Amino acid sequence: MKISTGLFLSALPTTGALLSIKTLKNKFGTTATIGALTFAIATDSAIAGDVGQGQKIFNANCAVCHPGGRNLIVPEKSLEKEALEQYRSGGRSEESVMKQVRNGRNSMPAFGGRLDDESIADVAAYVIKSSEEGWN
Ligand code: HEC
Repeated sequence: MKISTGLFLSALPTTGALLSIKTLKNKFGTTATIGALTFAIATDSAIAGDVGQGQKIFNANCAVCHPGGRNLIVPEKSLEKEALEQYRSGGRSEESVMKQVRNGRNSMPAFGGRLDDESIADVAAYVIKSSEEGWN
């Protein structure tokens, strides 16, 4: 039953799959089950857990100014661990990254109208994880 659900998910287009995941989340009550399931069965699918999804969102929306976690416009405000700790009010956290992405700041555009909350949370998870592990 698990396997057929995974295959079903991986066969769906991204939007449909995301909707199904929401439904499944409610049904099973845990994201972990679904994450592990889709990751194990559909590694090449658009859904590989939040961080995987966040990486795609990052590459499509952020990498133009932040390639490899750098900042091409204001170099010291990179997405490296030390910079996030130094410049984010409230320190380095998914919350503070989400706030920056949602509202923008100075020359960084706001993404609140372009990315939904789930996508913003995914991309923030990816930024924090990459700052933790190093961007390369
Ligand atoms: C048009 C270029 C541009 C794009 C696109 C962009 N940013 Fe930025 N980003 C900036 C600039 C410029 C800053 C520095 C803003 C400031 O002066 O505080 C910044 C700062 C940040 C910071 C704070 C870094 C620090 O050290 O304080 C984070 C986090 C961040 N961006 C994440 C993102 C994410 C995630 C995306 C994609 C959803 C994104 N940015 C898209 C230009 C961009």
